[in-house]
Amino acid sequence: MNTKIQAVIKNILSKKSTDVFIEQSNSTELKKTLNIFDLLILGISAVVGTGIFTIIGSAIVGGTDSLGAGSAVIISMLIAATASLFSALAYSEIAAMMPVAGSAYTYTYATMGEFMAWIVGWVLMLEYAIGNITVATAWTGYLVQLLKGFKHILPDFVVNFPLWLRNDFRSIYMMCDKYNWDVHDKMPFLHFPLGIDIPVAINLPAIFIVLLLTILLIKGVKESTRVAGLMVFVNLSIIISFVIVGSKYVAPENWVPFAPNGIEGILAGTFIIFFAYIGFDAISTAAEETKNPQRDLPIAIIGTLILCTILYISVALVLTGVIPLNSIDTQAPLAHAMRVIGKNWYAGAISVGALCALTSVLLVYQLGTTRIFYAIARDNFLPSNIMKIHPKFKTPHIITWISGLIVIIGSLFMDLNISAELCNYGTFASFVIICIEVLILRKTEPNRQRPFKVPFCPLFPILGIIMCSCFMIYKSLSGGTSSLYFLLWVIIGLGIYIIYGYKNKRDKEAK
Ligand code: ALA
Repeated sequence: MNTKIQAVIKNILSKKSTDVFIEQSNSTELKKTLNIFDLLILGISAVVGTGIFTIIGSAIVGGTDSLGAGSAVIISMLIAATASLFSALAYSEIAAMMPVAGSAYTYTYATMGEFMAWIVGWVLMLEYAIGNITVATAWTGYLVQLLKGFKHILPDFVVNFPLWLRNDFRSIYMMCDKYNWDVHDKMPFLHFPLGIDIPVAINLPAIFIVLLLTILLIKGVKESTRVAGLMVFVNLSIIISFVIVGSKYVAPENWVPFAPNGIEGILAGTFIIFFAYIGFDAISTAAEETKNPQRDLPIAIIGTLILCTILYISVALVLTGVIPLNSIDTQAPLAHAMRVIGKNWYAGAISVGALCALTSVLLVYQLGTTRIFYAIARDNFLPSNIMKIHPKFKTPHIITWISGLIVIIGSLFMDLNISAELCNYGTFASFVIICIEVLILRKTEPNRQRPFKVPFCPLFPILGIIMCSCFMIYKSLSGGTSSLYFLLWVIIGLGIYIIYGYKNKRDKEAK
């Protein structure tokens, strides 16, 4: 074989030793400030959000092109939690072995070489940055819900916030199509020569919240997790009180039939509700800033998953128990259920809780995006000057701005469903990879200290690989724009690596 091709193959398969990663993390400029409590807050704030406040409705009654699980959504939740648990155990084993920034990206570099690492890093961006577009868009939805509750107090412009100032233009086109509205009544157009008209639509609340959180993250991780802690406190209180208040109104006959669409409905529900579990892996992205990562990371990751599962199942039991299935709402299901049982004031409180939950998800996801960017740039696949640490706040401020801008730009033209599905693809892919890596590392580094070990290995990682791959195959076979977008995303990532990353790395490391 041509020696040049041999050299390229050698390069793209080259691994970075685990010891180098650990050494690098010990000399990091990032402050080591996080303890187990901070990590748990980080985990819960990343997980509890759109899934339990919004998506649960579609999982129960079904969406436009999917069946609902009915009360059997609790089985869907258990299946989604099981798939997540296998990956959570895998994350815990590796994160405790290699407490370094970059999550699955870093672990892949140590196990499968630079090319796969770049692809994983690129796919992780889908989970974090594109996932944040979904959450930012849902945030706007809840804000609008909340404002509507003040219709006799606030000016009409605020209560009925113009459509073009709270949506992307595609969503407005879709709404106009659905309700037979004239699109020119719903948003302004800029007129250019040659008859070119460009619609103007921006999601102002989403931009506002992302900008605010970007500034907060630049001020510091500790400060950010403090805010996340406050948010978690509010949204957990709201969810727990929903369960307590609602449980008094549960009528067991509402749980019958338990699974109106049988196994098909349960599987469709599992696919949708999986979104509610995404996020616990964000804990591992903060490994480098953790005081005692070996002990605290596994406890925080598994703890988050167990806590959230208990919470979700309780909410699902109450929600399906208080009102008949055909009355469950898909936009704001919890608030709507409270309204049905006559607790109007409580519906407003739920919107506040939802806003807090979504804010904390946004915060943690943006933190995750910046730390993955940081790890990739540190390995010279991206320009190194974006890694600069802020002299006063000691945070990677340039990368934080870039991550915020990605979400802002995305929210201008991406709708909530597509970004959510893309986020799911990114997560499934990273879960599969992380389970494969546990198997590889057990072979290649059998003697390395493992403060935490996946039980029943190789069975558990293999089950994780099978479950998550099946989710991806299931979605791809059922078609849709997101599977095409996923492919496109991977191709763009490949292009950047070939045109820039590969060469930049060699040039930098030759110096
Ligand atoms: N699990 C997160 C949420 O539900 C992504 O918003």
